Amino acid sequence: MPPARGPGPRAPAVRLTPSRTSRVLLVGFMGSGKSAVGRRLARVLEWRFVDMDAEVEAEAGRSVAEIFREEGEARFRELEVVAARRLLELDRVVIASGGGWPCAPGRLEEVPRGTLTIWLRVSPAEAVKRIRSGRTPRPLLEVDDPLRRARELLGERERFYRKAHWKVQTDGRSPGAVAGELGARIDADRTSR
Ligand code: S3P
Repeated sequence: MPPARGPGPRAPAVRLTPSRTSRVLLVGFMGSGKSAVGRRLARVLEWRFVDMDAEVEAEAGRSVAEIFREEGEARFRELEVVAARRLLELDRVVIASGGGWPCAPGRLEEVPRGTLTIWLRVSPAEAVKRIRSGRTPRPLLEVDDPLRRARELLGERERFYRKAHWKVQTDGRSPGAVAGELGARIDADRTSR
């Protein structure tokens, strides 16, 4: 008789990483470093780096902030879904997702085969600090109290991000250090199979 498939009723819930990873999808809150880490990880793996927000902007011919302002968040989310579908067809690629894209039922559960999903964790305080020192506007945090908003949003979103195969803490760490750790983990995972 063939061995039973899948975990038994009392087995711990283990998320299986793809046996042959042909793309990496980085998810996490705004300011978690998806683009900065992704760019460096792509270099380590000798793959391409692509950014979901940049893809939306190229397609729409305007910035994320302009789309939010002129057409609203709902329209941005539609464009994001289309961009994600296209990017998730590519191979040998590291994709930085937009912070909100994974936050709908089924998103991370339904990524195409071969996609390794990684949650870059960041605390709300560190996220707000990084965003303040950067140049990319985040319409969702343009409120009187961005830290409070970040705490609320992250509280709502964690249950989606935690569906990723792997997670890594980024607070107090450079993008290069995080990318180096992930590159080594991917390498170890490949050679152990
Ligand atoms: C958003 C995150 C942003 C961008 C948009 C909305 C979100 O991307 O897609 O401002 O809902 O978290 P980053 O996560 O790259 O900042």
